[in-house]
Amino acid sequence: MEYAELNNGLKCPVVGIGTFMLSPAEAENSVREALKMGYRLVDTAAAYVNERAVGRGIKESGVAREEVFLSTKLWPSEYENEKAVDETLERLGVSYVDLLYIHQPAGNWLAGYRQLEKAYREGKAKSIGISNFEGKYIAELETKWETAPQFIQVEAHPYFTQEELRRTLDKYGIKLMSWYPLGHGDKSLINEPVFKTLSDKYGKSPAQVILRWHTQMGFTVIPGSKNVAHIKDNADIFDFVLTDEEMAKIAKLDKGVRYYNGGEKELASYAAWQPTYEVK
Ligand SMILES: NC(=O)c1ccc[n+]([C@@H]2O[C@H](COP(=O)([O-])OP(=O)(O)OC[C@H]3O[C@@H](n4cnc5c(N)ncnc54)[C@H](OP(=O)(O)O)[C@@H]3O)[C@@H](O)[C@H]2O)c1
Repeated sequence: MEYAELNNGLKCPVVGIGTFMLSPAEAENSVREALKMGYRLVDTAAAYVNERAVGRGIKESGVAREEVFLSTKLWPSEYENEKAVDETLERLGVSYVDLLYIHQPAGNWLAGYRQLEKAYREGKAKSIGISNFEGKYIAELETKWETAPQFIQVEAHPYFTQEELRRTLDKYGIKLMSWYPLGHGDKSLINEPVFKTLSDKYGKSPAQVILRWHTQMGFTVIPGSKNVAHIKDNADIFDFVLTDEEMAKIAKLDKGVRYYNGGEKELASYAAWQPTYEVK
């Protein structure tokens, strides 16, 4: 495993397991199996409605809590709920998380960010992050934060490399954690000829080549999977290095095209939505 050093000195594994759209049973299984095979980074969110299952998966893995870098996210409907952080910790069954995000720049997101800063001061979050805060949102937040975030989680993959956003991140040493790192299962990305060529050269699958590209870009990746063979492959990417020339070839795929194109309307609907959390 390789590690990213955060702007507060903390270290985070550069590959983890993502749990978006995994049912509680699937999330529990994927997290347990991933940790058993050596993963040490787990990403979930209150909105995925699987935090309790993720907590169970961690316990069942037998891996000590302090060895796991656990990341979760507050949903906008909770930004003004002063108990939101404690409630998320309770669902996960932990006394702190390693990374706490606000999930969307929706609703009263500044109140949400203040909650992160408070949780950080109190040791309930060892690092903090913003998710989907691109463009005008990060521009406004950077004038208001008291503590700069350690991470931003945004859509990133070879078709969309967040070139503009990265200029702001570099100013503050904020690390990028890629969501949809494999294009959310889109076959056209995985089937790009350049990945087939590199896959043959290195004896790796196209997905492994894409994930290696992310880590060489300096990104942390959290591919989602309910398939144990994929989970195993996704962390097995550190025995080869793409050359500068190969990185340059992959860079040509950047079309500036996202898979997800939500705007203000979607953000308003996020602010209005209240997740129905798992019961104990
Ligand atoms: N902050 C946000 O707003 C946000 C939004 C979306 C996602 N996320 C986070 O980012 C994580 C990753 O995103 P994602 O899970 O939506 O998309 P993704 O990782 O790009 O793709 C997941 C898809 O790829 C397949 N896959 C995984 N490993 C593979 C492999 N080695 N070979 C072939 N196919 C493979 C999975 O199927 P199998 O199950 O069959 O392996 C699944 O269909 C999420 O789980 C979540 O933690 C955050």
